[in-house]
This record gives sequence, C-alpha cells and structure tokens, in this order.
Amino acid sequence: MKIVHTIDDLRAQLRGQLRTAFVPTMGNLHEGHMSLMRLAAKHGDPVVASVFVNRLQFGPNEDFDRYPRTLEADTKKLEAEGVYVLFAPDEREMYPVPQEFRVAPPGDLGDILEGHFRPGFFVGVSTVVLKLFHCVSPQVAVFGKKDYQQLMVIRRMAQQFSLPTEIIPAETIRAEDGLALSSRNVYLSEDERREAPNLYRLLQETQSIIREVNPAKPEAIKALETEQQMKLSERGWKPDYFSIRLRSTLQNASADDLTKGEALVVLAAARLGGTRLIDNLEI
Ligand code: PAF
Repeated sequence: MKIVHTIDDLRAQLRGQLRTAFVPTMGNLHEGHMSLMRLAAKHGDPVVASVFVNRLQFGPNEDFDRYPRTLEADTKKLEAEGVYVLFAPDEREMYPVPQEFRVAPPGDLGDILEGHFRPGFFVGVSTVVLKLFHCVSPQVAVFGKKDYQQLMVIRRMAQQFSLPTEIIPAETIRAEDGLALSSRNVYLSEDERREAPNLYRLLQETQSIIREVNPAKPEAIKALETEQQMKLSERGWKPDYFSIRLRSTLQNASADDLTKGEALVVLAAARLGGTRLIDNLEI
C-alpha cells in the first residue's frame, strides 16, 4: 500500500486510473470501515482510503481534540485489506489557508436532525468531501448507512454538482449485541457499553410497531416518537431526537404519505454519559 500525505503525491499515484473507488474516513478504523473497503473493491479498482479528522465538521464544544487518532493501527488494517493508496494529509495540507469557500447543503436536509443538533456539521462534511473528491477523482465512493443523513447529503451534493462520482451506500455493521460499530464507541465505560445496544433495540421495537399498525396516522407516529424518547431518558440517556421520517427526504410523513405506504426510516441520536451515539433503522 502506498501512503501519501500530499495532494500532489496522491494525484501522481492515481494518474491514469479510471475506476478508482474511494472510502473517506476519519480513522480509528473498525470492522465497519473494513466492510466499506470491501464494498469499494467490488465497485472499482484501485481502492483509495483517506484518514483525515476534519476540524470543519466539529462544533466548538465537540470532541475534535480527543477524537481517537490511530494512524499506525489504521495503516496495518488497510494494508491487510488490500487498499492501494492511503491518503493521510495533515491539516496544513487540506487547509493551507482558512477554508472560506464552503458547501452549504439545503436547509430542509442539512439543518434538520443531526444538522439541528450539530449546527454547521453538514457544511463541514460536504466541504471536506467535495475537496477530497477533487483530490482523488473517484468513479465511486462508499458511505455507510449508519450516518444515514450524511449519506443523503453527499448523494444530493453529488447529484446537484453533477459530480462524476457514484455514491454507494453500505449497510451498518453491528456488534453481536446490536450496537452499531462507531469510532466513538471507545469512549463508552463498561457499564455504558452494556447499556448502549438498547438504542438499537428501541429502533427495532419501533420498526415492529410501525409495521404492525401500517398505515399509521401522523399523530400516532408523533406519540410513538415521544414514548420511545421517554424510554431512553428513563434508562439514563439524554436523547437529542428519536424520529420517524420519510426515507426519500427525511421530512415528517403526512397522512397521505402514510396511506401511500411511502418508505420510512427511524433515526435516533442520544447521549450516554459523555458519548453521543447515533443509529437508524429502515422500516
Ligand atoms: O463519516 C465520516 O467519517 C466523515 O464524516 C467523513 C465522511 C470522512 C468526512 O470527514
């Protein structure tokens, strides 16, 4: 595997490649990331991974400074997976001058759910992803469904900027007890780690309830969201949202949408101790 730290070296390595498959990451790689690499290999060759902890997508009180940086271990994992190039720029390489030009996702997608609780998050994500795409020029790029809204933001960005990159979604990888794999799981204490799978259990319960009462009414959906959020609070979580939305737009479903059987997804974000976890499940 070639490890490159500059955009010039990256472009030199990839010159002439026509089927590059790209997986952007912030490192601290786990089995979930490895599944993205494997999916990328099915869609293109060579596979290029990036590891860059992107300051732009962290709020002032978020975990940018303590975000786990494990480049040596990440390199070994990517090498073992057969990744061809690892792009690991430092901040001066990605942002040699303050990044004044930024990508602003539309408010109806970028300012709801995660975007509401993490203002500026999707501006930071879209900006770095567009920049990484310009560096790698991939034909395909893989994004996990664990970050459901992020995947939708990137898809819409690629569509509206006519980017020549196909966005491939990858299924969420879970631990045996159901907890979605995430780089932030390392922050959980032993007790919190035992409690954490209950977020997924509640999503599963919500999925079965909605499937049983289909077509549900918007008021029933609201009531169910409130009830599930309360269950989380009673278990000691601090929920940001627990929300059942249309898969196509992430907006609330109208009575008409529900009668038509429009596809839904339930998304949740909640804090367990000092760790904020997110998860979702298609219904
Ligand atoms: O999902 C992530 O790890 C990040 O948001 C991404 C896409 C690598 C951009 O920094």
